[in-house]
Amino acid sequence: MTDPTAHRLWIQEALNLQLAEPDERTLSQRLYDALRSGIQQGQLPYGSALPSSRQLAASLGMGRNTVLSAVDRLIAEGFLVSRPGAGVFVADWQWETQQRLEAPVPLPMALSQRGERLLDFTAPSIERHTAFVPGVPALDRFPRERWQRLLRRHQQRAPIDWFDYQNEGGVNALREALCDYLSLSRSVRCRPEQILITQGAQQGFELIARLLADVGDSVWMEEPGYGGAQACFASAGLALQPVPVDGDGLNVALLPAGTPPPKLIYVTPSHQYPSGATLSLSRRTALLGLAQQHNAWIIEDDYDSEFRYTSAPIASLQGLMDNAPVIYVGTFSKVLYPGLRLGYLVLPPSLVANFQRINARLHREGQYVAQAALADFIDAGHFSRHVARMRRCYRHRQAALRQALAPAVARGLELSSGHAGMHLIAYLQSHALERELVHRGKQAGLRLSPLSGFYLQSPSQPGLVLGYAGAPEAEIERAGRWLSETWLTLTA
Ligand SMILES: Cc1ncc(COP(=O)(O)O)c(C=O)c1O
Repeated sequence: MTDPTAHRLWIQEALNLQLAEPDERTLSQRLYDALRSGIQQGQLPYGSALPSSRQLAASLGMGRNTVLSAVDRLIAEGFLVSRPGAGVFVADWQWETQQRLEAPVPLPMALSQRGERLLDFTAPSIERHTAFVPGVPALDRFPRERWQRLLRRHQQRAPIDWFDYQNEGGVNALREALCDYLSLSRSVRCRPEQILITQGAQQGFELIARLLADVGDSVWMEEPGYGGAQACFASAGLALQPVPVDGDGLNVALLPAGTPPPKLIYVTPSHQYPSGATLSLSRRTALLGLAQQHNAWIIEDDYDSEFRYTSAPIASLQGLMDNAPVIYVGTFSKVLYPGLRLGYLVLPPSLVANFQRINARLHREGQYVAQAALADFIDAGHFSRHVARMRRCYRHRQAALRQALAPAVARGLELSSGHAGMHLIAYLQSHALERELVHRGKQAGLRLSPLSGFYLQSPSQPGLVLGYAGAPEAEIERAGRWLSETWLTLTA
C-alpha cells in the first residue's frame, strides 16, 4: 500500500452516500455494516487508513460515540486494527482468501455413512397427524387448563437452583411419585434413586446404547419392531439383529444357528410394537436366563401398557425377579403427550451413578418445572383419572374404526385383536396391495403406515398399522370408510 490515507476521501464519500437512505437500523449499526462490507468486498484494502473518529463524525453528521462504537466493534472482530499514535487501519484479514472461499462452490450435502443409514429409519418429512398415524394420543382430550395451571404454579415457586445445570437424575418428587406408580401398577422393583428422568424414551435408548454397548456389538431387536429404537441403535454403531416375533412375542428359537450373542436385547413385552403380542411368561423367564448367560442387558420398553381393554395391565419383565438384568424404559409420550418430552429409566442400583453422571454431561438434565408439575399431577390423582378416561376414549375410537371397516372385514380383511394399545393392524394379501393403498391414501390426504416398513429385513408381512387414538371418532369413521371402500375396490 503506497499511501494508506488514499482511501480516506473515498470512505467519507461512500459512507455519506450509503447512509443517506432512510433505514431502520441504528446509525452505529449502519456505519458498522457499511465499513465491514467495504472491507469484505475489497473496496477498503488491507492497510487503508480510516479517517479519525472526529473527522468521520463531522462528515457523516453523527456523534463521535456512535462512530467509536462501530469502529471498536470492527477492531474487536479483527477487521480493523488500531495503531496507537498512527490511527485505525484495515487489518490484514486475507480478504482474497475469503473471496476465493466464497466463490460459488456448493456446500457439500453428503451425510456421513451413519447419517445416510439413519435416513432409512425416518419418514421423508414430519407430517401433521391425520386419522391413522400410529402412536399419537388424543391431544384433543388432554386436560390442558389444569396442566397449564400446575405449570404456572410451579414456575412461580421454582427455586433458583432449578435455573442452574442439574445432575440429580430429576426432580425427587417426580421420582417418588413414579416409583409408587410403577411398583403398584407395573410391579416394577425400584427405589426412587434408581429412576433417571430423561427427555423421552428415545433419549433413554440413546444412553443405554452408548453406555452399555460398543460399536459393532449386537443388539437383538423385535422383527417387526419400533423404528425409533432401530434408528437409535443404528446411530450408536450397533449391529441390529432382527429376531422374529410370533403370537407369544419375541421368539429367539427362530434365530439361525451361529447368530452373534447379544449385548443388548430390546423388547416391548407388554404390548409388542407393532404386532400387539404379549411376551408369554415362559419366554420372559427364558429371556432373563439368556441375558444372564450372555451378560447382556434387556431393554424393556413399556411405552403404552396403560391401555389394555380386556384385562389388567401385564406386570413388567423387570419385576419378575430380583436383580433382573433389565433396564425398564418408560415414557409420558403416550399417556400424556409427546411434546412434553419426558420419560425415564429404571436402572439397576449398580448403574445409577454412572448413568446420572454421563447423562448430565451428554444431554444435560432439564424441565424441572414440568417435572414438578407432573409429580403434582400424579399425586393429586389427575394422572390415573386421565389414563382411565383415555382408556374409555380409545376403546370407543377403536370401535368406531372397526365399525367403519366392517364391510371390508365381512369380505375377508383381517384385523389384529386390538385388546390393547392405540392402533390396529389390517393384514393385507400382498405388498403390491400395501403399496397401492399407501399411494391412494396419500392422494386422499391420509398417511397410511405400511407394516412392511417396521421390518429390518425381508420377507415382511404386508399390512397397514392404523392408529386410532389421535383423531376424533368422526374423523376415524370417515378415514375408516374410505379405507374399507378402497380395499373392497382393489380386491374385487
Ligand atoms: C414402541 C415405542 N416406544 C417408545 C415410544 C416413545 O418414545 P418417546 O418417549 O421418545 O416419545 C414410542 C412412540 O412412538 C413407541 O412407539
